Amino acid sequence: GAAELGPYRHYMQKEIFEQPRAISDTLEGVEGISAELFGDGAHRVFKDIDRVLILACGTSYYAGSTAKYWLESLAKVPCSVEIASEYRYRDSVPDPRTLVVTISQSGETADTIAALKHARSLGMPHTLTVCNVGTSAMVRECALHFLTRAGVEIGVASTKAFTTQLVGLFLLTLALARTKGRLGDAEEAEHIKALRHLPAAVQAVLALEPQIISWAEDFAKKENALFLGRGLHYPVALEGALKLKEISYIHAEAYPAGELKHGPLALVTSAMPVVTIAPNDALLEKLKSNMQEVRARGGELFVFADSDTRIENEPGVRVIRMPEHYGALSPILHTVPLQLLAYHTACARGTDVDKPRNLAKSVTVE
Ligand code: G6P
Repeated sequence: GAAELGPYRHYMQKEIFEQPRAISDTLEGVEGISAELFGDGAHRVFKDIDRVLILACGTSYYAGSTAKYWLESLAKVPCSVEIASEYRYRDSVPDPRTLVVTISQSGETADTIAALKHARSLGMPHTLTVCNVGTSAMVRECALHFLTRAGVEIGVASTKAFTTQLVGLFLLTLALARTKGRLGDAEEAEHIKALRHLPAAVQAVLALEPQIISWAEDFAKKENALFLGRGLHYPVALEGALKLKEISYIHAEAYPAGELKHGPLALVTSAMPVVTIAPNDALLEKLKSNMQEVRARGGELFVFADSDTRIENEPGVRVIRMPEHYGALSPILHTVPLQLLAYHTACARGTDVDKPRNLAKSVTVE
């Protein structure tokens, strides 16, 4: 009821603001990295596999898409990510040395459960789920699991479940790297330190809300938006576009910025806001030239830039500065302002934020 909302207008807003707590709860009890965080017998399974297949739907699929970058760069484990409803109906080539990972907030999504069973029927016995509901069908079906502790998520558009899934998937990456002898003690300690600081870092990003509200007033008048990200922030761009679509009903698309010239540049006019995720990483200079391509066509840039990126406000370029650069965990921080942008845009348009039209919190039928 309304009482539980406290100072918030909607559950979605409350859940966005609960993320520091959800992340620290998810990290509770994680002292060091070990396979056993994923259940008894995980060590043997992790030794036994040499690839990962991630199956999920919706926002959970984007968490998986982010994890692919981590798994291949930090654990050096090849990873493919598939939309569950596609995977279950296509011919694929099974490899028994695969760890099949499902990701699900509810643990009840029919397509994801069916995709898991399909993978098993093809001869891939090693299964693990990252799930928010301990009593769910998904947790019962999978041999191994990691429970996110986001708490009950009521808003149909997933927020705290996504960021805690990312935490779980980062831990999985580190655990696989550790098992395979690819993560030294010093590196492990650095990663743990960064994870421990994450709740405070997210809190600092939440403080950007007033600036994001002022952008949302402009967004509310638009009918289309483009989201750009590169590398590990491309899935974050996809998630940002999905959030905007789901609750504000603005058509939004996400592109890896290097693909602009292969299509979406044709859409860019002054009526097209282009949200750009600009972390201070190895792709920054390339991203800046992609931004120039947008500016040259009169597109309006809305940039979430890390400090030290030297991207400044100028006509046609509006910048919100992120408090700090966060290395490998940066996708978690860059997700938060996109959630707030979608949320406040939807509020400005007066939509039913927690229960968007035609959508369900969990899709238990095909
Ligand atoms: C529905 C929800 C989404 C969610 C997706 C997958 O479409 O509206 O927010 O991402 O299902 O749900 P799951 O519970 O499997 O993560």
